[in-house]
Amino acid sequence: MSKQRQLIAGNWKMNGSLGANAALVRALADGIGDEARCDVALAVPAPYLGQVRDLLGDAALASIALAAQDVSPHASGAYTGEVSAAMLKDFGVRYVVVGHSERRQYHGETDADVAAKARGALSAGLVPIVCVGETLAQREAGQGETVVTAQLDAVVEHLRGTAGDDAVAGIVVAYEPVWAIGTGKTATPAQAQEIHAALRRRLRQAGESTAAAVRILYGGSMNAGNAAELLAQSDIDGGLVGGASLKATDFLAIVAAAR
Ligand code: 13P
Repeated sequence: MSKQRQLIAGNWKMNGSLGANAALVRALADGIGDEARCDVALAVPAPYLGQVRDLLGDAALASIALAAQDVSPHASGAYTGEVSAAMLKDFGVRYVVVGHSERRQYHGETDADVAAKARGALSAGLVPIVCVGETLAQREAGQGETVVTAQLDAVVEHLRGTAGDDAVAGIVVAYEPVWAIGTGKTATPAQAQEIHAALRRRLRQAGESTAAAVRILYGGSMNAGNAAELLAQSDIDGGLVGGASLKATDFLAIVAAAR
């Protein structure tokens, strides 16, 4: 069992509407109450951050944190369409997902981009949730561990070089095998644990206590049925949940499975 309080983060991706969000957030706030057994966050599309913050109010924001799905690596300026970390902070955001495979795949984000975003988020006082994950072809070629550890190293080395070892302790890592995202195919608990343990070993570059402090989430078709077994693995410290975070009963069941 992991040592830290687990984090269950819902990633709504590009889903939602004013009406649907209101119903979902109310059901989640009612279901979680003010004594969540784990940390909970909702990564909502940027235009709805204000709405979801208002729906949660100060009381629920204490148990359900607001998260964003992406952030600009730049602090401000002529970057049309981008949203800065300071703007997210203004809206009460605590976490931001960086380097999701959908952004790497469809928007050409590189490891260097992801590292710069993580650094920018930390500088503004946000917690970056750094996503790593291999494709099916990479796994079948026996390169899964090499790919994900290289993705993590890029961020860890950049943070250590620009902000020191302590900065690494401020991130959350999410292992999301690309072949498991939205496919209904979940990594087995043993497959996930093996990669999480490898990621933990890499984090030790920044020190033993840092490696122990960083939460490593699993994402990829996590659902109400498989969450408990995944979350029971020693190096799995929470979940990054896509599809199942859009249904209150499913998401609440995953939160209930956390420790
Ligand atoms: P699914 O849970 O829909 O597979 O998505 C996982 C994910 O990409 C979360 O960021």
